[in-house]
Amino acid sequence: MLKDRTVAVLGAGTMGQAIVKGLVVRTGLPPERIRATVKHAERAAGVAEALGIVVGTDNAAAVSGADVVVISTKPRDLLTLLERLREAGSLDHRPLIVSIAAGVRIGAIEAALPPDSRVVRAMPNTPCVVGEGMVVLSPGAAATGADLETTRALFAPLGRCRVLDEEHLDTVTGLSGSGPAFVYVVIEALSEGGVMMGLPRAVATELAAQTVAGAARMVLETGRHPASLKDDVTTPAGCTIAGLLAMEDGRIRSVLARTVEVAARAAAGLGGPRAR
Ligand SMILES: NC(=O)c1ccc[n+]([C@@H]2O[C@H](COP(=O)([O-])OP(=O)(O)OC[C@H]3O[C@@H](n4cnc5c(N)ncnc54)[C@H](OP(=O)(O)O)[C@@H]3O)[C@@H](O)[C@H]2O)c1
Repeated sequence: MLKDRTVAVLGAGTMGQAIVKGLVVRTGLPPERIRATVKHAERAAGVAEALGIVVGTDNAAAVSGADVVVISTKPRDLLTLLERLREAGSLDHRPLIVSIAAGVRIGAIEAALPPDSRVVRAMPNTPCVVGEGMVVLSPGAAATGADLETTRALFAPLGRCRVLDEEHLDTVTGLSGSGPAFVYVVIEALSEGGVMMGLPRAVATELAAQTVAGAARMVLETGRHPASLKDDVTTPAGCTIAGLLAMEDGRIRSVLARTVEVAARAAAGLGGPRAR
C-alpha cells in the first residue's frame, strides 16, 4: 500500500521518530520518500542523522507533493499547524491526513482542513519503538477503505493494529496509549519485591519484565481469559494464592481499573476546547 507513496511526518519527537523508523526499517519505503519536521532548527540535524532522512522545520515544504501527512506534534499545536498549512494552500493537493494526537477529535481536524479532506485518527503507544506497539485507527467522514489500508500499512510494522469507532479513542488513549507507563510501575513494583527478598536489582527487573511480556503473550496467543490462565498458576495451598490474596488486600483491581478511567477522562481534555 505504501509503495511509491511519499510520507511527511510533522513533529518528529518520540512517536514521530518511531513511525519513521518503522517505515525505514520495516516497510522498505526508500528514505528519500520520507520527510519529517521538528519545531527547533537546532534539533533537526540530530534527528536527521538518527533517522537517515531529510528533517527540517518547514512544514509546507515537507507536505508539498506528499501523499500521506502524519501529524505527531503535541495535541495543543495540531489545529493551528493545520490551519496555517491550509491558509498557505499547502494542502490543496488533498493528502491523506493521519493524526496521532490524543484528545483532538476528527471533526475538529476536518474543520481545520480544506473541505472533504481525508482524515484517519490513530492512537499508538511508545512500544511502537520496538515493534510491539498497539495502534487503534478511526477513519474520518471522507476517508476511504483504501485510506484505512494505507494507514494500516503505515502502522503495521510498529505492532498490532485494529480499527474502532472514534467514540472509543479517549478510552483507548487511557488504556493502551498511557498503559505502558502503568505497566512500568507494575514491573518496578514486582522487581522491588525481588530486591526486598535479596535479588540483585538488574536480575529482578529482567525477571519482572520478561514475566510481564510472557504473560501478555499467553493472553494474546492462547485467546484464553486471564482469570483462567491465572488459575493454571494457582496450586491449592500454594505460594501463588498467598500472593494473589495479598494483591487483593491492596485493591489492585480497582486501582488499575480506576487508573484507566481517570486517564481516559483526562485524554478527552488534552486538545483544549477547540478539539472537541
Ligand atoms: N508519547 C506517547 O506515549 C504517545 C502515545 C500516543 C499518542 N501520542 C501522541 O503523539 C503526539 C506526539 O507525542 P510525543 O510524545 O511524540 O511528543 P514529543 O516527543 O514532544 O514530540 C513532539 C514533536 O513535535 C515537534 N513540533 C512541535 N511544534 C511543531 C511544529 N509547529 N512543526 C513541526 N514540528 C513541531 C517538536 O519539535 P522539537 O523537537 O523541535 O521540539 C517535537 O519533535 C501527541 O499528540 C500525543 O498525544 C503520544
